[in-house]
Amino acid sequence: MIDYNITQEWTAGKMVELSTELEKPSPFYFGYDIQQHLLNELSKHEFDKIFFFTEQNMFELYGEELFHELNAKYHCLLEIVPPGEKCKYFPVLEEVCETLIAEGVSKKSLLIAFGGGTVGNIVGLVAGLIYRGIRFIEISTTMTGITDSTLSNKQAVNGSTGKNHFGLYHSPLFIWGDTKYLKTEPPFSKRCGIIEGIKNGFIAEPTFLDYLEKTLNPELNFSQQDLTDLAYKIILSKLEILKQDPSEKHLGIILEYGHTFGHGLEWLLKGKLSHGEAVSYGMKIAAELGKELGFMSQKDVDLHYYFIEEKLGFNNPWPENVTTNLLMEAMIADNKKTGEELRFVMLEKIGQCYNPEGDYLMTVDTKLVEKVLDNYIQKATGKVAVTTA
Ligand SMILES: NC(=O)c1ccc[n+]([C@@H]2O[C@H](COP(=O)([O-])OP(=O)(O)OC[C@H]3O[C@@H](n4cnc5c(N)ncnc54)[C@H](O)[C@@H]3O)[C@@H](O)[C@H]2O)c1
Repeated sequence: MIDYNITQEWTAGKMVELSTELEKPSPFYFGYDIQQHLLNELSKHEFDKIFFFTEQNMFELYGEELFHELNAKYHCLLEIVPPGEKCKYFPVLEEVCETLIAEGVSKKSLLIAFGGGTVGNIVGLVAGLIYRGIRFIEISTTMTGITDSTLSNKQAVNGSTGKNHFGLYHSPLFIWGDTKYLKTEPPFSKRCGIIEGIKNGFIAEPTFLDYLEKTLNPELNFSQQDLTDLAYKIILSKLEILKQDPSEKHLGIILEYGHTFGHGLEWLLKGKLSHGEAVSYGMKIAAELGKELGFMSQKDVDLHYYFIEEKLGFNNPWPENVTTNLLMEAMIADNKKTGEELRFVMLEKIGQCYNPEGDYLMTVDTKLVEKVLDNYIQKATGKVAVTTA
């Protein structure tokens, strides 16, 4: 049991080693301003070349200095990928793979992903495909990357009909989480990472919610110490769940709380809504559904709104033109990965998920889901939703 109230001191250069707890765990080096240790960790392995992947703006912000530091010791090649989600498509994947072959990548090479979760995902997938798997490391620069995407071995690109449709599991040689990079991460992007931490509190770690209550503020004004401690605790809250299900196939499914609605919204709005924001709506609607099913009290539902809107500042208006019908269709289309029926992770109470069918997912009658969505959209927009039979 973690005591989230114990504050770690995060002086510059202090680094701790965690583990991803997965079937193929990777060492995870975490701290504030820990770049000084990176060359030492790399020196424990042998490489013929390093391919350093980043986006142009990340190269200008931090990557250039790091690239030159590495280049002084290793044979390094710079690979700039398109920014954000734009790098997670087949044409980019193909071009990167062919470029690396032309540049002489070998089984002794190392790929470095320097940037957010998107760079990590494309580089992880390229590393998993080249010669059926070469080594890569992730140096993550966003809250989502440090606290969430690096903690699973899932690497993927998007398809024309949905996110992360094509991918594989490939574990990094190690993960590097340095919170000094978070200083320049835009607040909206940080919120997208922190929302998953709030979710971890709701699904399994209620004492984490007590800590978040004291720590979060909607402007996201944090000292470097507090920001580092927040990231550290979000990581721990996810690892507590992964420890019990390293394959994310049983209990780990609860990490998808709010995601059935969230994925539907993301699918519908095709890149106009970030994953984190979609999950923020998804969690509130899941709470309303829980109330309709008789699990959640109004107080529990209000607690969702309080953390998401008041404490995290995620309170944008409901996306324009998203109706119950459109969202239902999108959820059903996105659901092809798991089956025909709409199934949801539901809370039995704050800190505990309901497990009526043995896999932590619950099949809910479509009419009930539509009713909850109608009410939610009406409340969020002031408009009466029209649901066709
Ligand atoms: N594998 C998983 O389990 C998993 C989990 C969560 C998210 N993801 C994936 O991660 C991706 C989202 O990652 P993300 O939220 O890190 O977004 P991102 O990688 O798109 O980064 C967001 C933007 O912020 C900028 N940026 C990054 N770091 C910065 C910094 N330190 N300072 C200033 N600007 C910075 C980048 O230029 C980028 O364009 C999605 O594609 C999602 O599918 C995967």
